[in-house]
Amino acid sequence: MNTPEFTVTATAQPLHPDRRAEILADPGFGNYTTDHVAKVEWDGDYSTGGTWHDARVEPYAPLTLDPATAVLHYGQEVFEGLKAYRHADGSVWLFRPERNAERLNRSARRLALPQLPDGMFVEAVKALVRQDAHWIPEGEGTSLYLRPFMIATEKFLGVRPTREALFEIIASPAGNYFGTPEPVDIWLSETYSRAGEGGTGNAKCGGNYAASLLPQLEGEAQGCKQVIFTDPHRGHAIEELGGMNVFFVYRDNTLVTPELTGTILEGVTRDSVIELARERGMTVQERRITLDEWREGIAEDRISEIFACGTAAVISPMGRLRSAHEEIPAAAETNGEVTNWLRDQLTGIQTGRVEDRFGWLERVL
Ligand SMILES: Cc1ncc(COP(=O)(O)O)c(C=O)c1O
Repeated sequence: MNTPEFTVTATAQPLHPDRRAEILADPGFGNYTTDHVAKVEWDGDYSTGGTWHDARVEPYAPLTLDPATAVLHYGQEVFEGLKAYRHADGSVWLFRPERNAERLNRSARRLALPQLPDGMFVEAVKALVRQDAHWIPEGEGTSLYLRPFMIATEKFLGVRPTREALFEIIASPAGNYFGTPEPVDIWLSETYSRAGEGGTGNAKCGGNYAASLLPQLEGEAQGCKQVIFTDPHRGHAIEELGGMNVFFVYRDNTLVTPELTGTILEGVTRDSVIELARERGMTVQERRITLDEWREGIAEDRISEIFACGTAAVISPMGRLRSAHEEIPAAAETNGEVTNWLRDQLTGIQTGRVEDRFGWLERVL
């Protein structure tokens, strides 16, 4: 099934347009889902191959799973997150969706789930967005958030790769993340790790996020909105936040971000920020950056801005770094020139306000 055709069954009970309008006026994030889903099912064997079948868009509904379904016990699950944007002329676009497709397949490989054939991920996203396009909010900074996921659906309690899987996409209208966000204080978790060498840090699997909840609570108890993870075995090399990659702007026109060691998620926004910064003439370094370098860079005013980035919140300035032992003050410029330029360029390209000179947008409608 290389060029999948998604059959469409429209719901007989779409949400009432008045209620939908109410939701779209203030959707927030992750609160509501649309009328349809996209689905494809797989049978086979991870090692010898299998078949994807029944590609379809159908009414949104709960899943019925046998209590012995593999995903419920061993967490064989991966997911993605991307957005569809409506431009001023009414057209609808995705931002670098093939990057999410590639990452889903890398995550799936790590979790011994099947690979989606070329084109299936993007076609599934497009089929769902076409069906539920009237759910894309209109207005500055809004979008339709898309959540593709793949789960092991075989009813079997043995520990081995599943022989049945489901790939599904749900959609959720998302409110305005734009504007100039306030800097958030960051908690350095010394109690918990997010990932270890050879683990699943660079896979987008649910278990990573379950493991981040307790450190997140620890941070919140200390008045910090986000947690940053370091690698204590590499001299406290900075890794990433629970759901965002991290960048340091130096006064000598250098942009530094932790290199991809296998423990960090390869963010689509991260990659886009790197390309934009290079175009702007900055020197971009993907390298090991330690807590000591952070502390000294701030003390000596060589680091001027620090920000985090990801699909959901785009680019957020970081405030102070706090741990049980110390506090590193925020960089001198929060929402500084570079942070703001990068945010303006990214959101501008996504929403059609700024020319897409990288060919990052893919049209849906
Ligand atoms: C752990 C983690 N790091 C980084 C990111 C940012 O990735 P992206 O820019 O592709 O959204 C995410 C969000 O998906 C994430 O969950």
